[in-house]
Amino acid sequence: MAGMEHSEDAGVYKLRDDLAIIQTVDFFTPIVDDPYTFGQIAVTNALSDVYAMGGKPLTAMNIVCFPIKKLDVSILRDILRGGLDKMREAGVLLVGGHSVEDDETKYGLAVTGIIHPEKVLMNRGARSGDKLILTKALGTGIVSTAAKAGVAGTEIIAKSIAAMTTLNKGAAEIIVETTDIHACTDITGFGLLGHACEMIEDSEVGIHIFASAVPFFAGLQELAEMGILPAGLHRNRQFRMSCIEASPACPEWLVDILCDPQTAGGLLLSVAPEQTAGLLDRFHRSGLTDAAVIGEVTVEKKGKILVSL
Ligand code: CO
Ligand code: CO
Repeated sequence: MAGMEHSEDAGVYKLRDDLAIIQTVDFFTPIVDDPYTFGQIAVTNALSDVYAMGGKPLTAMNIVCFPIKKLDVSILRDILRGGLDKMREAGVLLVGGHSVEDDETKYGLAVTGIIHPEKVLMNRGARSGDKLILTKALGTGIVSTAAKAGVAGTEIIAKSIAAMTTLNKGAAEIIVETTDIHACTDITGFGLLGHACEMIEDSEVGIHIFASAVPFFAGLQELAEMGILPAGLHRNRQFRMSCIEASPACPEWLVDILCDPQTAGGLLLSVAPEQTAGLLDRFHRSGLTDAAVIGEVTVEKKGKILVSL
């Protein structure tokens, strides 16, 4: 049902009329100092693509690279413990894995989930008039870069870690109970604008983003204005430049934030306008207090993203 053609979040394969499996794999190098926290973030991130399809992850396998001759094995144990605790929270069963010796630590999961074939949420399908909802605040890429440079405060680091360890499970459970959600994806390495582009590429619609409505961590503006930006942010902006039309009123630092590569970012949903208020209210009550309507789908600029204040 979903393969490699349209930058879908995960592969979906129909087994029966009432059952399809979802498969995805994701692993990366540490982006925080604490091994246990890194394990939690890696698992939150790896499970996210299953939730982005509207599915439920069932089983997972660890993928581990570790410099066993250079680093103490207790570090590896802490990473895996963080991962396992997050899998428990998600109700996911660890059924195996594979580890190799490598110069650099890497951790992640191969995940299998399930979904009803008629309930699959692709990243395509947004309709004119839909509202766009983002479930988490942006900024994890900029904060990670600032933390490495020693210029991020403890408060913004804590906020970023809290976001990166929040499963998209709660949001996905609300989504499957809501009708008229036409498209969904999760915000990861390509940033908000990059993943928004994937939603409308080669389609009959475009997107209008209200930049001042997009949630981001308090204190992020200062870091962005200082130019503390990850390399991936510049690549994202460059790569999607032809697709994005930012109004001159929109400051550079804000466009930068919209291109910030996210780790374990929130879900981006395209939903019928009459469902928007109810859905947003349910997100807020479930603890996703940063969730916001950040734009709308239009026919005016098909295949383009218009960014205004
Ligand atoms: Co994804
Ligand atoms: Co992925």
